[in-house]
Formats: sequence, structure tokens, C-alpha cells
Amino acid sequence: MLFYGKCEILCLMIFIDNTWLAVQMGIKAVLCCPHIPPTSVLILTAWKIHLRDKLSCSISLNRETYQTRKNNCTDGRISWASRPDQNPELQIHPVSISHEGDYTCEMGTTDGNFERTYHLQVLVPPEVTLSPGKNRTVECKAIAGRPAAQIFWAPEGDCVTEKEYQDNGTVTTRSRCHYPDGNVSTVTCLVSHPTGNRNLSTDLSGIVMPPASLFLLRISLAILGLYFSK
Ligand SMILES: *[C@@H]1O[C@H](CO)[C@@H](O)[C@H](O)[C@H]1NC(C)=O
Ligand SMILES: *[C@@H]1O[C@H](CO)[C@@H](O)[C@H](O)[C@H]1NC(C)=O
Ligand SMILES: *[C@@H]1O[C@H](CO)[C@@H](O)[C@H](O)[C@H]1NC(C)=O
Ligand SMILES: *[C@@H]1O[C@H](CO)[C@@H](O)[C@H](O)[C@H]1NC(C)=O
Repeated sequence: MLFYGKCEILCLMIFIDNTWLAVQMGIKAVLCCPHIPPTSVLILTAWKIHLRDKLSCSISLNRETYQTRKNNCTDGRISWASRPDQNPELQIHPVSISHEGDYTCEMGTTDGNFERTYHLQVLVPPEVTLSPGKNRTVECKAIAGRPAAQIFWAPEGDCVTEKEYQDNGTVTTRSRCHYPDGNVSTVTCLVSHPTGNRNLSTDLSGIVMPPASLFLLRISLAILGLYFSK
């Protein structure tokens, strides 16, 4: 809801907008400022940033005082997306886990203050592995994902699932299942994650080695073959 009328002398109008935003690590994220009414005159644009690890900084442009720019964000990956006098978007490139936090664009205009806050969450796709079935037991791992991946099995076995939290904010989910029922031959591990779901299948019998006798028979035939070919 926007108010388009002119402000009185004491302008205390504030229009607030809140957005949750999940972006994948490594990409370029561009955050937009709120829309202001076409009749408003923009005076100040400021991005106020509060990172999860308590660091806070701001980037601003004041049009009244001869385009005064201020920036005390030391992270070089956070900057204006382009020329702020034309476009006040903020860019984070490349996004890393440390960029999680709140980003507020404040726009001071002749019609009041407009604010938009992004609650930024950073996603890391896990690396998924499935061990070959040995002794009718298989292990599926979703390594270093953020948030933690969930693991499901088809068909269900006797499973134990655990999560391991790494210092860098990622989580490894590990699930080991045993299939006592001899009827089950192929099992599928389903990994559910906001960056995309994955599934991997394996054969419970594992790698079938030829019996030793068959192996010896092949050697004998080969020697015989050499003998007769002379
Ligand atoms: C930037 O300035 C704000 C207010 O002036 C201050 O609270 C904040 O700690 C500063 N951040 C850095 C990284 O210097
Ligand atoms: C195979 O699995 C069974 C049942 O879980 C267990 O008793 C046995 O020790 C396992 N054998 C090997 C070689 O891991
Ligand atoms: C986090 O730490 C784990 C284990 O040390 C590592 O495998 C993974 O690549 C790291 N991920 C990030 C995003 O730093
Ligand atoms: C094995 O599977 C078949 C069909 O898929 C089913 O009819 C049978 O009852 C199963 N046997 C056991 C022991 O589960």
C-alpha cells in the first residue's frame, strides 16, 4: 500500500516491506530498493547491512549534498550493482555463507521514507554419494549442504540417519540402511534439498566376482588356445 500525497513539514511516513530471500552460494545476488511514487523526489538512498556474525555497515548516496557517497562495508563483494545515481540496486558477488543476514534499502523522499528489508539465507548444494551395497547394507551421504539435506529410501530398510555440523555452517547428513529381506535387490537413496532433489540407486548384491574355478577354467582354455594355434 503506497501513499502518494505530499508530506507535511514533519514527515514521518514510513513504508516498510519485508522479504525472505534464499540464494545459492557462488552466484551474483542483486537486491532491489522499494518502488517510490513517481511524484516523489529522492533525497537519500542507504543500504544498511547486518550480517549474521554481528558485523554491520552501510553504503549510502545523498543527492542533496552533491551526491555524497559513504561506504564502510569492508567486504569487497558487497557493492552498488551499477551507478547508484541511476540505479540503487545492491550486488553481492560471489555470495558466501558469511553474507547471511539482513539488508535494508532505505529511501528518503519528499513523500516519506520507504524501506525494504531482505532476510538473506545462503544455500549450499550437498555432494551426494551412495556406497555400493555390501552385506546388504548401503550408506548414502549428502556432504556439506546448507541447510541440512534430508535422506529418504525406497524401499525403506532398517536405517540409521545422523547429521554432522561443520564449523563453516554446512551439514553432512549420513544414512546407513540394512536390508535383511533377500527379495530387495535395488535400493534408491532420495536426497531432498532446497537447491534440488537428487536420487541415486545401487544394487544390493554389490559386484559379483566370478567363482575361482571359472577363473581357472578360463586360464586353462587360454593356454590351450595358444597351444593349438601354434
Ligand atoms: C559503519 O558505520 C556504522 C555507523 O556509522 C557503525 O555502526 C558500524 O560499526 C560501521 N561498520 C564498520 C564495518 O566499520
Ligand atoms: C553382515 O551382516 C550381518 C547382519 O547384520 C552381520 O551379522 C555380519 O557380521 C555382517 N558381515 C560382515 C562381513 O560384515
Ligand atoms: C565446509 O567444510 C566441509 C568440511 O570441512 C568442506 O567439505 C566443505 O567444502 C566446506 N564448505 C564450504 C562452503 O566452505
Ligand atoms: C518377494 O516379492 C514377491 C513379488 O515382488 C512377493 O510376491 C513375495 O511375497 C516376496 N517374498 C518375500 C519373502 O517377501
